[in-house]
This record gives sequence, C-alpha cells and structure tokens, in this order.
Amino acid sequence: MYKIALLPGDGIGPEIIPQAVRVLQAVGEKYNRQFALQTALIGGAAYDATGHPLPEETLAVCRNSDAVLLGAVGGPKWDNLAPELRPERGALLPLRKKLGLYANLRPAVVNPALATASTLKEDIVAGLDILIIRELTGGLYFGQKHRQDLPGGGQKAVETLEYTTHEVARVARLGFEMARRRRKKLTSVDKANVLESSRLWREVVESLAGEYPDVELSHMYVDNCAMQLVRNPKQFDVLITENMFGDILTDLASQLTGSIGMLPSASLGGEVALYEPIHGSAPDIAGQNLANPIATILSAAMMLRISFGLEDEAAAVERAVNKVLQQGYRTGDIMQPGKTRLGTVEMTDAVISAL
Ligand code: NAI
Ligand code: MG
Repeated sequence: MYKIALLPGDGIGPEIIPQAVRVLQAVGEKYNRQFALQTALIGGAAYDATGHPLPEETLAVCRNSDAVLLGAVGGPKWDNLAPELRPERGALLPLRKKLGLYANLRPAVVNPALATASTLKEDIVAGLDILIIRELTGGLYFGQKHRQDLPGGGQKAVETLEYTTHEVARVARLGFEMARRRRKKLTSVDKANVLESSRLWREVVESLAGEYPDVELSHMYVDNCAMQLVRNPKQFDVLITENMFGDILTDLASQLTGSIGMLPSASLGGEVALYEPIHGSAPDIAGQNLANPIATILSAAMMLRISFGLEDEAAAVERAVNKVLQQGYRTGDIMQPGKTRLGTVEMTDAVISAL
C-alpha cells in the first residue's frame, strides 16, 4: 500500500491531477499495486476555503503520506493579497521548506516524437536527456530581505545569498549519486569568479569528488552555462546549482524539449518527496479541457520510480506516453501539422489504452 497526498491547487491543477490519478489506478490494476489517495487544499483554493494558502491540515496530510503529487497554485484572483498569503510565496515556498525538500530534480528530455517541436534546430536537441538539480531551500530566495528609506529620498532593497557547507554538501552528494546512475558526468554551476557563496559551493563540491572517482566532475560559471545549454545542450548529463540560478536555467532547459506541458519534476531531501509538473496553473486555459496532462503523468512516473522503487511501473507509464506521441496524438501546446488534437481527458484515455 502506497500512501499519496494529492494537492490539486488552482487553475488547471484540478484538471490534471485527476488524470494522473486515472493513470495510477490503471498501473495499480495492471501490476496489482494499491495506492491510497488523500486530497488536500493548497494555494488559492485553500485560501478561499480557510483563509490561508497552506493550512496545517494540508501539511499533516503530506507528512502522513509516502509521497505528494501537486498540480499548481496561483492565478489572477489572488494576485492582490498580501505577499505571505499569495499562493506561491505563502504555500509553495513554505511547503518545500517545511518538508525539508532541498533538491529539485528537473529532467529535460526530448521525446523522439517531438524533436522538431523545439525552437532550436533538431540536431541540437534530438536525443537530449539531461537532469538539472536545483538547490531549493537556500540561496538567494531564502536569504535575509529588507528595505530601508534613504536619507536623500528613495529606498534601498537588500537580499542576501547564503549557503552553509552542509547545505551545499547534501545537494552535491545527490548530484554525484544521480550522475553515478546515469552517464557519470556532473557539472557544478556557480559564479565563483564573483560570489563568495559560490566559492564555498565550489570548494565543498570539490572536496566530495574523491568519494565518487567514477563520476567526472567539472565546474562552469552560470552565465556560460546558459549559453552552453542553448549552443550544445547534449554536452551535459547532471547539473547542480544554486536556487535562483536553477530557477532560471531550468525554464531555459524546458524549452529545449518543446513544451512546458511535457516536463515533470521531483523535490527530494525530506521524509516525503514532492512531485509536480514544472508549469504553473495556466489560468488562460483552465477549465476548458485544453491542458496537457503529460507533465503531471510523468511526475507520477517519477514518484513510482524514486519514492516507491517501482521501476517497471514507471517505465511502463513513460513508454505509454512515448507510444501515444508516436501515434500522432497531441494536445494544443505540442500540436504539429498533420497530427491529431486531443483534450486533457482524451489524451489521458490514450495513455491508459497504450498502458
Ligand atoms: P504557466 O506555466 O501557468 O503558463 C505559461 C504558459 O504555458 C501559458 O500560456 C499556459 O497556458 C501554458 N501552459 C502551462 N502549462 C500547460 C499545460 N499543462 N498544457 C498546456 N499549456 C500549458 O505560467 P504563468 O502563466 O507564468 O503563471 C500562471 C500562474 O501560475 C501564476 O499565478 C503563477 O504564479 C503560477 N505558477 C505556479 C507554479 C507552481 O504552482 N509550481 C509555477 C509557475 C507559476
Ligand atoms: Mg520558476
């Protein structure tokens, strides 16, 4: 019995989470696995119902589960709330922090059927399979923040970028471990020519390299990395980087693959892991059966593999998604000439039949 907390959230979240659940149920039937599902409120939906975007009860449901599957939060309806009540800052950041999820894994894999969907040339992206690991609970987004009025008028705003040896070491170890299971190349991305926190980052990563002699370690400055990801992304295997650097580089990397609607993610490090598509709540298409459910379905596959060790089941879901795309089925965001356009529910039906 595997206990899963479901947090649909806002916008397309309540449309895509039920699709991933249908796929999990199909996996359960095929492989004789039992999934116990418990749904909880988060984001704007939680604010509307309880006055807070991350109710204690939701945290309790997550802590009482083996894994969490999240849709997305946020939308224009809640944009004018105080910052700490807004869905992203009031729910998503504290949820990651409170569950101790210090590493965000974002694979950027180009599906063979979609090699021409990227804005980059096919030979640059075809066959791409990289994994970016973003440090998630430290760095610039969690440093000290303040503002002050300046005597001569105007204001000064300050953020600090802080890391400890311990924080760098734990995410670096995960990077080495993941590289070891893949093509054994780890690139640590920093700005050590300018930032003191990056010098510490580099020293700590370097100090661990001796424990992973089978992994080839290299270092790269973040500005160069942005350029290299566009110029020749296939040079990479696993990358590790600071929170904000990772935020920016992973959005960039998502576009190597064609659509944000295709990409899953996992956040690890605490007693319970969190899985979610990398896209947001897409208010512009919510409620119209237009959302691509594949990023969420592939997030569920990552959960099967990483949290539950169900490799065959995870691979079966990934194969089913590949098959459906090869058959020419597309949602609007990945639509190509001559292909068959499906809605959210119908795309999931196709994945389930392929399974
Ligand atoms: P977004 O990712 O929601 O949407 C960007 C564009 O991609 C939109 O045109 C949308 O229609 C499209 N899109 C996204 N997911 C799709 C899918 N599954 N299928 C087809 N098309 C898809 O980002 P945006 O517009 O910047 O933010 C919208 C809201 O989501 C905001 O309130 C933002 O704060 C929130 N957000 C939440 C995140 C989370 O919960 N993890 C992450 C990013 C944004
Ligand atoms: Mg982002």
